[in-house]
Amino acid sequence: MHTSNPTLATVAVALLSALPTVSAGIYTKNSPVLQVDAKSYDRLVAKSNYTTVLEFYAPWCGHCQNLKPAYEKAAKNLDGLAQVAAVNCDEDENKAFCGQFGVQGFPTLKIARPGKKAGGKPVVEDYNGPRSAKGIVDAVVDKINNYVQRVTDKDLDGFLSTRNDSAKAILFTEKGTTGALLKSLAIDFLDVIQVAQIRNKEAKANALFGVASYPALVLLPGGDKPGLLYDGEMKKDAMVKFLSQAGAPNPVSGPAKPKAKKEKKEKASSKSSDAKSKTKEAAKEETTASAETPKATKAAEAAPAIPAITEPSKLIKECLNPKSGTCILAVVPSAHGETAEKALGSLSELAHKHAEAKRHLFPFYEIHSADANVAALVKSLEITKEVEIVAVNGKRKWWRQYEGDLSSESIESWIDAIRLSEGTKKKLPAGVLSEVVADETPQVEKVEVKIEDEIKVEVPTESESTSWQGAEPTPEATAAEHDEL
Ligand SMILES: *[C@@H]1O[C@H](CO)[C@@H](O)[C@H](O)[C@H]1NC(C)=O
Ligand SMILES: *[C@@H]1O[C@H](CO)[C@@H](O)[C@H](O)[C@H]1NC(C)=O
Repeated sequence: MHTSNPTLATVAVALLSALPTVSAGIYTKNSPVLQVDAKSYDRLVAKSNYTTVLEFYAPWCGHCQNLKPAYEKAAKNLDGLAQVAAVNCDEDENKAFCGQFGVQGFPTLKIARPGKKAGGKPVVEDYNGPRSAKGIVDAVVDKINNYVQRVTDKDLDGFLSTRNDSAKAILFTEKGTTGALLKSLAIDFLDVIQVAQIRNKEAKANALFGVASYPALVLLPGGDKPGLLYDGEMKKDAMVKFLSQAGAPNPVSGPAKPKAKKEKKEKASSKSSDAKSKTKEAAKEETTASAETPKATKAAEAAPAIPAITEPSKLIKECLNPKSGTCILAVVPSAHGETAEKALGSLSELAHKHAEAKRHLFPFYEIHSADANVAALVKSLEITKEVEIVAVNGKRKWWRQYEGDLSSESIESWIDAIRLSEGTKKKLPAGVLSEVVADETPQVEKVEVKIEDEIKVEVPTESESTSWQGAEPTPEATAAEHDEL
């Protein structure tokens, strides 16, 4: 090859200089996945009071690259609840470290759960479940340490008088189980606030605190200070802030860096920011992982139109009955204008993309605003634009209105938020749902994961559910076989 070709020469040099001394990891700085190495493991994982799932990977490993989207999704789902971390075993300084964990193939996933004794070593177990966000999230949630006391009427006096000068937080709930969010609060405030939960049926306790609606979070700052009733949304950041009145939360990771846990910034309604909150320190100290996998998305090609429903009974059967799961409905004029075309085009693209990836997603339908039943729906929902996209869930009696531009990206992030059960849900007005008329095939109930069961908000309009039951039903699993190390 002639060096007279400057372009090729430059490329060759660039390639040479790019030959890794430090190989670029799969996860970039902005990834919600925490990057851990031999040096930072102790501080970020071993000393953390949080459970951490660790992926041991090599950048060249195809299964590792395939896992990335699901793993990042798991990281987002688990934000604030547990840590999702990755170790690049291809880096020289991590090789021995990965060896110590008995890593023999990539990716290897392990879950490190803090020992219950302070300062003890974490218990590390293999994760061999499905390589999907849901599989990982479920397994990790299952391994979050539980420091939440369940208090009954009988124990109440005892609970209130133990360490009676220290702060206590009580979640009054209809549920008998302890959800991940409450567990995570107990971890944040370990040794700072005693966290407990009391069921609604404990009459004496509920009466003592005058609790009448659920869930209700009460903070007893300790001593003679009066109890405080939380009146915000059941969302982690806001709850941490509320509880912080009684004492500062613990840092997420161990000392070494005096970077005490930055108060997790208020997640505005936008979900893009929460991805970042997690990476914080890790990204800072970690190797710059620069390799982005250039993923050629060819979603747009030949997406078939989403089905239109014009029959009232069909709409009831699919989406508007007390058993129906989530549906996305594009309410458009039957003579599509430009806006309608745009909305329908974006939805078709998304539906197609998911179908191609064999991912299960709720159905999308086009419905026509001039149809009498649709007009009635539009009226009850008080939606006003010529083209509206709404999500309805008959079974859970909520709906959501899409707001934003009609690009597929923007709609997709809204849909993702629904899948994760993030964002604002409104209560379906009475009369929107009808019973299905004579149909022998019962709607197959979707399997929904309930991670954060008891904290589900009762659905006043402005509230956002912290329940994660939407988690994700997709088989993003990659083959379970391992690459060679
Ligand atoms: C706290 O406990 C001590 C000792 O049991 C008791 O004397 C004190 O009255 C208690 N204070 C409150 C506010 O209950
Ligand atoms: C973990 O919990 C202990 C209390 O048991 C607390 O002192 C510590 O700050 C917490 N966080 C870390 C990173 O150790």
